[in-house]
Amino acid sequence: MDNKAEFYQELLGQTKALIHDESDTIANMANISALLFERLSSVNWVGFYRVIEEELVLGPFQGKVACIRIPLGRGVCGTCAATAKVQRIADVHQFSGHIACDASSNAELVLPIVVAGKVIAVLDIDSTAFDRFSEEDEVGIKAIVELFERSISA
Ligand code: SME
Repeated sequence: MDNKAEFYQELLGQTKALIHDESDTIANMANISALLFERLSSVNWVGFYRVIEEELVLGPFQGKVACIRIPLGRGVCGTCAATAKVQRIADVHQFSGHIACDASSNAELVLPIVVAGKVIAVLDIDSTAFDRFSEEDEVGIKAIVELFERSISA
């Protein structure tokens, strides 16, 4: 499929179908990470970290084994959680404090999962390709995250 907007529309529909009947957040995180890992090209890790007391704790993911605990404010994921801002990093080696769970990761897209005004988790997507994530990717994945947030607050 050459049209990214169409691709993300389809992916949003697939996510909706996957989670609409299920209220368990962890189960939905597991299936969303599996779906994104399967459908996105050139990604080597997709998963969630949950905010538990002042730390991020590894949640459901697809890819190689990863760091389990990340302090809020540290690395790309910790910065996303602490600021509640999407981190779209073209070259993680230029990001001060980047945590290299897998040395082959070069680009990263991390989005906060915000429920009732609080960051409850982050969605982390890694790629071995520098500059893998465009603004269109960010917008497409953000729509999926917003759908997931609504399912949690519903
Ligand atoms: N690189 C991330 C850590 C998580 S792993 O990529 C799975 C970071 O700097 O926060």
